[in-house]
Amino acid sequence: MKTFYIETFGCQMNAHDSEKVIGTLLAQGYSQVESPEDAELVLYNTCSIRDKAEQKVFSRLQQFKRDHGKGKVFGVLGCVAQQEGEHIFERAPHVSLVAGSASYTKLPEMLVQLEAGNRRVTGLSLDTDATFDTPYTRRDNPHRAYITIIEGCDKSCAYCVVPFTRGPERSRTSESVLEEARGLAAKGYTEIQLLGQNVNSYRDPSERGWDFARLLRAVGEIDGIRRVRFTTSHPRDFVKDIIDAIDANPVLCDHVHLPVQSGSSAVLARMQRLYTRDEYMRRIEWVKSAKRRIALTTDIIVGFPGETEAEFQETLDLLDEVGYDSLFSFKYSRRPNTAALALADQVSEEEKGRRLTILQERQRAIQIRRNAELVGLIEETMAEGHNHATGQWIGRTSQNRTLNFTHAELASPNGRTLVGSYLPVRVTRAGPNSLAGEAVL
Ligand code: 5AD
Ligand code: SF4
Repeated sequence: MKTFYIETFGCQMNAHDSEKVIGTLLAQGYSQVESPEDAELVLYNTCSIRDKAEQKVFSRLQQFKRDHGKGKVFGVLGCVAQQEGEHIFERAPHVSLVAGSASYTKLPEMLVQLEAGNRRVTGLSLDTDATFDTPYTRRDNPHRAYITIIEGCDKSCAYCVVPFTRGPERSRTSESVLEEARGLAAKGYTEIQLLGQNVNSYRDPSERGWDFARLLRAVGEIDGIRRVRFTTSHPRDFVKDIIDAIDANPVLCDHVHLPVQSGSSAVLARMQRLYTRDEYMRRIEWVKSAKRRIALTTDIIVGFPGETEAEFQETLDLLDEVGYDSLFSFKYSRRPNTAALALADQVSEEEKGRRLTILQERQRAIQIRRNAELVGLIEETMAEGHNHATGQWIGRTSQNRTLNFTHAELASPNGRTLVGSYLPVRVTRAGPNSLAGEAVL
């Protein structure tokens, strides 16, 4: 039996790509093992969004550099593979396979070449209109399933590697997405998460020509599906119809992740984000005028080249103005190939660190306030696991908050497990990052 080990870095798109890669390998007669030591084929599905993420794969490979990897075959997949290409063979001579996500459809052929002893197998072409659709996906979670609806990105944000690592946009047909979703519902999945670097620019390539909102509505109508989420949205392509769709169907979760990156229109222009602060705020107004309360989350980059103290203040003001339920924040990291490399006035690492801390403290206060408003409310919660240390069930609300709860009759999973079920839970306590409550019996 041929064995493989895979470690995945980066975003949900990458996590889901790995599920498809694993399914493909299993279908080719491989079996998965839990440690690289036990594997003949060691794969890293990599991320290069920031320098730190990129360095991780090289530190992993370094561990095996001696003895030429002890006879193992090493493969680098994903965004670092696409970005660094054949340079990886120079930096890590014990690597035999370098393939970006746009080449995964060719994985079976690449495996054949590896098995034949080829030490330089590459899949680096971005010139494709294919998406990686496979019936073999090996899903990690038995209740929530990812479905990629669009691959690649046609934007050119000045800081971002993704257009270089994932290539141009390619959408799947609505019928293939719906067929996959119906199949998942039939297998007992109740939550579906639609994935793409920019789901809002989804465009059905078939005659139907559906846009994203139309597809979202259709997925929300599939029998047995109780929750539909989607990520990520680009504000420029975010239309009101998406909010109308959420308003019309409670299966579409009360959560929109709308990365803003900066609260300053001047910085947004330098980032080539294609919207101003006012245009972004108009979208926030749509979300806030919905009939249900829809949670809002975002991504922020601090210390983009030339970001002045006043521009940074505009971002802090924006946090207050929007009142995000949660956010991801990052220090700007210089990336290969990107337009921002050419910009003057790089902000020092120290200053970026200072701004990040200030931003995170500001947001923490907002979250404490917002979460406290939920105490006393009853939220439908999906049980995802059990924490033996605290005796609580780990749950998630439609708004994507963690809500850990106790259950008067089911204190532990020894008897019947609650995992995968949906229960009404009364919120009794709120912290900055999660809620606690008790199941309403
Ligand atoms: N530096 C820092 N953060 C970045 N992101 C993307 N590129 C960079 C970069 N070069 C952040 C953005 C994006 C999130 C996924 O990662 O905020 O929305
Ligand atoms: Fe990382 Fe971006 Fe690639 Fe996802 S698409 S793995 S976040 S570089």
